[in-house]
Amino acid sequence: MTFKENTAFLSALQQRVSHPRLESPAPNSDQMASCYRAAFRAPDHAWLRPWRFVECQGEQRLAMGSLIAEAMQQEQPDLTAAQVDKLVNGPQRAPLLIICYAHLTDHPKVPASEQLLATGCALYGLSLALRALGFGSVWRTGASCYSRAVHNKLGLREQDQLVGFLYVGTASAADKSVPELTQNDFVSQFGRP
Ligand SMILES: Cc1cc2nc3c(=O)[nH]c(=O)nc-3n(C[C@H](O)[C@H](O)[C@H](O)COP(=O)(O)O)c2cc1C
Repeated sequence: MTFKENTAFLSALQQRVSHPRLESPAPNSDQMASCYRAAFRAPDHAWLRPWRFVECQGEQRLAMGSLIAEAMQQEQPDLTAAQVDKLVNGPQRAPLLIICYAHLTDHPKVPASEQLLATGCALYGLSLALRALGFGSVWRTGASCYSRAVHNKLGLREQDQLVGFLYVGTASAADKSVPELTQNDFVSQFGRP
């Protein structure tokens, strides 16, 4: 395919926002398949395909919340009942939770950091594709994302890294307005003051 100017695509990128409040319906499996096709086109040095996604829906969300809470309690036995409750119920903030991790491999030319970046790009691509189909999402991490005990319970290998929890569903509210950023604050011209 030859890529032609596509202002609708550009405009969608320029207006992307997260949606922390999400409700049913979640995308169906055909819609998810379309979105994964977009995610899998993330830039990826040496085509290592490091991204992995684990979906939780329905009752699996409570099971996932319980797994996370149990793991976090192993590491932090002094968590309060309210904190444990929050961990247990966290995944139910959206009809679909997608756990994304990087399946990292030793490669002579592609350090783990690049594989992690590729996985982040894939997760971002997934969120953009979901938005293109009219769904909302928000990428979250928090302490459980970096917990060894959580990684173990999820069956990650020692070298793998959790990249984020993508909460997915139908946005409960309209897009928030976001102030436009000033290019000069972020972009400079090499060789010019
Ligand atoms: C790697 C990563 C981790 C994040 N973790 C959290 C998080 O744990 N909690 C949260 O509220 N937002 C988190 N965010 C930010 C939200 O996804 C979102 O970008 C932010 O709320 C700003 O809203 P916006 O995307 O609409 O601009 C994270 C974003 C990234 C890229």
